[in-house]
Amino acid sequence: MHPHVSQLTLEEKAGLLSGGSFWKTRAVDRLGIPSMVLTDGPHGVRYQREDSDHLGLFDSEPATSFPTASATGSSWDPELVEEMGRALGAESRAIGVNILLGPGVNMKRSPLCGRNFEYFGEDPLLAGVLGSAWVRGIQSQGVGASVKHYAANNQETDRMRVSAEVDERTLREIYLPAFERIVCETQPATIMCSYNKVNGVYASQNRWLLSDTLRGDWGFEGYVVSDWGAVVDPVAAVAAGLDLAMPGAGESVPESIVEAVRSGNLDEASVDTAVSNILTVHDRLLADRPAVTPDHAANHALARRIATESSVLLTNEGSILPLEAGQGGNIAVIGEFARTPRYQGAGSSHIKPTRLDDALSAIRAMSDREIGFAAGFSFDGADDSTLRAEAVELASRSEVVVLFLGLSDAEESEGFDRKNLLLPETQRLLVADVVAANPNVIVVLSNGGVVTLDGIAGVVPAVLEMWLGGQASGSAAAEILFGAAEPGGRLAETIPLALSHNPAHVNWPGSDGIVRYGEGVYIGYRWYDATDREVAFPFGYGLSYTRFEYSDLAVRVADRTVAQATVQVTIENTGARAGSDVVQVYVGDVESTVDRPARELKGFVKVHLEPGERRTVTIDLDDRAFAFWRQGSWVVEPGAFTIEVGSHSRSLPLREVIELEVPTPVIVPDRDSTVAEWADHPSGMKALREVLSHFGPAAEAMVGEETLQMVGSMPLRTMLTFAAQAAPETVDLDEIIESLLSEVQQAGPVPA
Ligand code: GLC
Repeated sequence: MHPHVSQLTLEEKAGLLSGGSFWKTRAVDRLGIPSMVLTDGPHGVRYQREDSDHLGLFDSEPATSFPTASATGSSWDPELVEEMGRALGAESRAIGVNILLGPGVNMKRSPLCGRNFEYFGEDPLLAGVLGSAWVRGIQSQGVGASVKHYAANNQETDRMRVSAEVDERTLREIYLPAFERIVCETQPATIMCSYNKVNGVYASQNRWLLSDTLRGDWGFEGYVVSDWGAVVDPVAAVAAGLDLAMPGAGESVPESIVEAVRSGNLDEASVDTAVSNILTVHDRLLADRPAVTPDHAANHALARRIATESSVLLTNEGSILPLEAGQGGNIAVIGEFARTPRYQGAGSSHIKPTRLDDALSAIRAMSDREIGFAAGFSFDGADDSTLRAEAVELASRSEVVVLFLGLSDAEESEGFDRKNLLLPETQRLLVADVVAANPNVIVVLSNGGVVTLDGIAGVVPAVLEMWLGGQASGSAAAEILFGAAEPGGRLAETIPLALSHNPAHVNWPGSDGIVRYGEGVYIGYRWYDATDREVAFPFGYGLSYTRFEYSDLAVRVADRTVAQATVQVTIENTGARAGSDVVQVYVGDVESTVDRPARELKGFVKVHLEPGERRTVTIDLDDRAFAFWRQGSWVVEPGAFTIEVGSHSRSLPLREVIELEVPTPVIVPDRDSTVAEWADHPSGMKALREVLSHFGPAAEAMVGEETLQMVGSMPLRTMLTFAAQAAPETVDLDEIIESLLSEVQQAGPVPA
């Protein structure tokens, strides 16, 4: 317990559990406890000196606007994300921010989620590895992270009330692992609980989430801060394991806590624990460190490098890209986004950039060719026919067209979800008309959530997805277009052929305050693989300006009775220029007693290779690479597992099958188990037959070999009730069940 706890009055302690103002915690001057500053956001520091808000509406101090997570998620590069975290940490410290509210690691359950631009992707391993990198980076600078939004905050619709109804296996395997990995690998200063309910209980007062799982299972040592305004019942929140309710909302929260302790409705020990959690983290953050002056020019260059490394080249027919920067006919740059970049999302993460590169100026600066411009469309969606005609005229007299399209803040944002995956109609009309005038079109996209590419991919020769690529995305686009940098991104989210194909479709966004995760673990590529669904572009996909070949896959299992493997593969750059690729390893459980996805990403590494360079990479798979969640623990079943390796989830040319001879995990029966489940347990059936032998032959016959099939699906209690009819005297069924349970629980999950 923190030493200050015993020196604080109950009122002071209760005060420390809620903010002193919108962005600050309370101070206790007499004990030298300072107020601490928490503020957004995941890809830039939003520090507000004047008016404060949680939607990015009011002004904030200039800070580097780095690529959003929709981009960094596509980088598949933890080292690069960690470098971004370090830069964010330096900028935070320099401006007096103690905790930066990020990273956002919620899964992209549906492409319609308005806030997908802030999240890494549809796979928990990728999000966890990149989230850990972000936290390591920022905390290396003495600034705390706040991993958000814990948990199952996968939509904006009704986000402050909706109950996400998710079975535990799906939570453990899909929606929690990114949080788990980050906690276990980095010990983040804080975790931010989400607004929504999880299985009927608000996250802010959900003991299973905040205490049993976060601290009990994962050993979290920091503190839990609420999302802004997420605490509904402050007393229930503290009792469940929430430590800090933000923002400050006057004295109502402290007063209710004091009153609850005084009236015996809240154990003061819970208050002490929360205060201790908060002060312990703050002491660590206040540890002396040299002052830091961020290098905004270097951070801008870093933002540009991240943007190029995160851009995904979807098509490049005829290798139309990269373009010649020097000689060549004129280039038509069309699209308002080339002049007015969309580089970040709307809402709490929205910041004021230190500078902003637009693609048009950057293209002109990088090329000696004649560069024409036409807006092509307006953001207000009024009658764009004149703008379109001007664009078509320019395209018709140009050698090549670079068409900048995307989504605006009106189409996607924190606070609301999208209704479809389409680009605005005015842009779709523009594409058709421009292509009719000049087929040599390169489309560059700026969007946080995926868009369907009907009428674009396969129609124009090249499509470059740049997501919301930060303040330097304009110059990053020019570098990629002219080949000064290669597009290093790979999809962190499937681009479906149609909205109706996505796994959440029939359970989105829920109704009457409930959203059911009916697809279970089948999120993203897990769903498209399970349903044999064609997709526009698969998870992990992306083109390079060079080519790679994979060979010599070797999977080594040191001990078949232990679920571990080492994967080695050789990758070669067979093209004429340097480039990077992401080696991806997917694992599939060939035969299992539960339904499992055909393959799941269980390892990856990004490699940068010179032309002709070959490299053998090694990726270790631990037991969790093979495990699924069942009845309170991770289990690995013996049998065959596929190990598939390649450059994306639908191109896995190398494959090996390994056999694991791990002990068969046996379910320890409980009082709701069926007779068949008792029969599956090595000592369960023996104990049951022993009991029934006292009921006489009729009872024993109920579990004979020939009748076991019939009674197998009967819950134990039901079968015993029938069997007891034959007993010579009345029996105490509860007593019998208790003795059976203690017998098998002593035996434990005995391997076959
Ligand atoms: C917002 C967001 C959260 C943000 C907080 C403070 O509502 O959900 O991500 O950090 O409030 O702005």
